[in-house]
Amino acid sequence: MRQFYLYTLYTRFSGFVFYLCVTALLFCNQKQISASIVLPLRAQKGMVVSAHPLASDAGLQMLRKGGNAIDAAVATAFVISVVEPFSAGIGGGGFLLLRDSKTGEIRALDFRERAPLKATRNMYLDAKGKVRANASVNGYLAVATPGTVAGLYEVHRRYGKLPWRELLKPAIALAKDGFILSSHVTWRSIPEYENRKNVILNNPAARAIFTRQGDLYQPGEKLVQRDLARSLTEISRNPRSFYTGNIARAIAADMSKNGGLITLADLKLYKPIWRNPVCGNFRHAKVCSMPPPSSGGVHLLEMLNIIGTTNLKSLGWRHPDAIHLMVEAMKIAYADRSKFLGDPDFVKVPVQQLIDPAYARLRRAEIKMSRARAASEVKPADIKMLQRFSKTKGRWGENFTSSADLSVILNTPRHESTETSHLNVVDAQRNAVSLTFTINTGFGAGIVADGTGIVLNNEMDDFAVAPGVPNAFGLVGNEANAIAPRKTPLSSMTPTIVTENNRLRLLVGAPGGATIITQVLQVILNVLEYNMDVGAAVSVPRFHHQWLPDELRLEPFVFDALTVVELQRRGHKFKQETTPWGNVNAIALTPEGTLEGAADPRGEGSPRGF
Ligand code: GLY
Repeated sequence: MRQFYLYTLYTRFSGFVFYLCVTALLFCNQKQISASIVLPLRAQKGMVVSAHPLASDAGLQMLRKGGNAIDAAVATAFVISVVEPFSAGIGGGGFLLLRDSKTGEIRALDFRERAPLKATRNMYLDAKGKVRANASVNGYLAVATPGTVAGLYEVHRRYGKLPWRELLKPAIALAKDGFILSSHVTWRSIPEYENRKNVILNNPAARAIFTRQGDLYQPGEKLVQRDLARSLTEISRNPRSFYTGNIARAIAADMSKNGGLITLADLKLYKPIWRNPVCGNFRHAKVCSMPPPSSGGVHLLEMLNIIGTTNLKSLGWRHPDAIHLMVEAMKIAYADRSKFLGDPDFVKVPVQQLIDPAYARLRRAEIKMSRARAASEVKPADIKMLQRFSKTKGRWGENFTSSADLSVILNTPRHESTETSHLNVVDAQRNAVSLTFTINTGFGAGIVADGTGIVLNNEMDDFAVAPGVPNAFGLVGNEANAIAPRKTPLSSMTPTIVTENNRLRLLVGAPGGATIITQVLQVILNVLEYNMDVGAAVSVPRFHHQWLPDELRLEPFVFDALTVVELQRRGHKFKQETTPWGNVNAIALTPEGTLEGAADPRGEGSPRGF
């Protein structure tokens, strides 16, 4: 009896003691913590919100000149390539969702990187079949064929109004004349800073641009990128120069000299792909997001479907039942991700089955509200289960290796921060663009193609380099995401557009690797379910579970002490982070049609409107 009493005391109060310790630790670490709630900017005609004020300025400038949302998004993205050379840019790729106000149609453009023609399934394994450490992360072999320039040009060609050249002017000026590095988010705040710095120092072109004799430029200093200005000028005259002209030749020559795989043939073959977005209903809203080769849209909808009709709001903000349900939904979605998601041009992805509300109800029935399931208890769907939601016989994820190597997963450092960049634009006609692009981890592969000023991505790491082996974000994959020539690596980028009664309601997206999908989920729920304004919605602390590793990651101050105790009692395993993650931004439309935009206080982004 006494033992039982002590045990009860322990289970009741160990969480509380844990919480107090964490709180004390966090108070000692105030500088790292973003606790502020931003106020949204309100505007009537048009709005741009991005991860950098200079980029938002460029977008707004295009809107004021009479450009539409597409023009503004293109100009904003090019400026991000200059002012966030560590996160996203013309050496990488991305996705965009676009809403055409004339038809109300939402379209998705995939301009993600593709594996080079010479890529092979086992290219990152040694003779013994073991993964070569960091081969898919650092250096020339990590680079996939970039798509950003082709994507931006394609969307402008179809939908833009202003001349292409006009859109690149702000980016060219900022690269040529330089800009002052801010004290807020610079590469110094990238957690794997030392590691990335060493990679940069190994590459003479990157070293020459981003360091002064080996030291990265500091906040308050001016960063000038003359080579990049020249490349952008060339792209402004002829966007194909990236794929068939001088820039292509410079990239291919640098690759060939340094053991990279990308050739002129890869660049010439590159094509962005228009895809149908994935859409589903949540409450009164229609949520549309990026389909494969992103996992973002499918799993965002899967989680929303699992939450289903549960009235989270009536439970109260941060009620343990609401958090528990969301976390258990996250585990199921990320388990399915590991098995089924890949490039749909190479593997059959059961998209319609995974986003079917009836499938979600089946998975919802597995969730026990009284107890958190261990990751080992949560399985990806089996084929028979999915076939119940399919008219045709699917052959999905058949070579799935169910025994992911947990020791590798648990020992893999993850470091999502500000890499990758998201932007949203809405114009006076209510055309809208939600765009996320990336070079993957900080400074991509850590190399600049000689003479171009272009930082090249390490997107090859988003493939499953071997079944069950986690990538830089701790995500595991399998057959569906195995490497093949010209294949697109699986992504988590989740540019999203929400409408209600065919009217725009919300645009949202985020960087942050594996956490992108759960960031977007939480902002959508904050706005649609909890009626927050976008400022609060992007600011409040977040949590994240990705099935493996089996841990519930918490931002500082995300839950109160009693909630912590209750969640621990149900068996949730916390990983308390001391730094926040992500850098989400969003634009919402009020019922009166006013635009409200906000950028995450965790980053340096800001909205601009008129
Ligand atoms: N490179 C991160 C992602 O695409 O999800």
